[in-house]
Amino acid sequence: MVQHLQNRPCGGRYGDIVQAIGNTPLVELKRLSPKPGVRLWAKLESANPTGSVKDRVARALIEDAEEKGAIRPGQTILEPTSGNTGISLAMICSRKGYKLKVVMPANVTPERTQLLKMYGAEIVYSPGDQGSNGAVSLALEMAQADASYYMPYQYGNQANPAAHYNGTAPEILEELDEIAAFVAGLGTGGTLMGVGRRLREELGDSVKIVAAEPMQGEPVQGLRSLEDGFIPPIIDLSLLDRKIFVTNRDAVVWTKRLLDEEGIFAGVSTGAIASIAVRIANELDEGNVVFIVCDDGWKYLSSGLYTTPVDELENLDTTVWW
Ligand SMILES: Cc1ncc(COP(=O)(O)O)c(C=O)c1O
Repeated sequence: MVQHLQNRPCGGRYGDIVQAIGNTPLVELKRLSPKPGVRLWAKLESANPTGSVKDRVARALIEDAEEKGAIRPGQTILEPTSGNTGISLAMICSRKGYKLKVVMPANVTPERTQLLKMYGAEIVYSPGDQGSNGAVSLALEMAQADASYYMPYQYGNQANPAAHYNGTAPEILEELDEIAAFVAGLGTGGTLMGVGRRLREELGDSVKIVAAEPMQGEPVQGLRSLEDGFIPPIIDLSLLDRKIFVTNRDAVVWTKRLLDEEGIFAGVSTGAIASIAVRIANELDEGNVVFIVCDDGWKYLSSGLYTTPVDELENLDTTVWW
């Protein structure tokens, strides 16, 4: 007898790996939810083909450039990225026949370098102590000096939030009729702007859009402190109901708690976001709280974080991860 499938959309059937991006699972975290009436949901963007939310964005950036006639096969794409967008662009460029050069801080993990090289990308290193801001300014200089590069520039390209407005948000709305709060990390701001705008349009002021922002001087990979002086042009701060600071220690502790208590193997920015999502859940009496699992933990394995007991985590050197 044929058994009825219970998962939607059953994984789907796609013509190639680029088309298989998105349609990620929404998973309830019952053990981390502080109250029975408050349901905590993790949107597993780690289930994308290269393991991060940035697959959606990279596809949107390249397809937007193709639609506008801004790139042609064989052209070199240049992008500053602290990792995930580069890895996603590298996979997509390798499938679509573009060359890719990424500019990233020199202190990234060896896993990131290998993933980029594996998909054929060329890497230009910017000074590690300048973080992602250093990568952005070096890439802008390179693009100004050589007009043959096409720079999608995710920080200022509306195709970035549009990937979430047209993808991530409708997928969440397909599963939940009511959402009390949506929590995501503040990196380029693409996730918060795209999902936030769509949820606000569909659900009005009943949904709170909450950003997890790292403390200044406490870098969390993939996230940025607006106090560092650079506000990505795609960010409209008026869309955010709250912006909550998170310490590096909380990011690390909650990354470990997600693993230990819910079996979610996620990167460090997801720990930061989960800590804020649980804090918001604590303030509510009922409702759904949705947060983004930005990437999986494979790229961070060399940090030793996942096998370190929670009470020893503060001894880890967190300055080299990005
Ligand atoms: C691991 C990770 N977490 C969070 C983010 C933040 O997402 P967004 O750029 O949409 O703000 C990024 C973005 O680069 C990331 O790589």
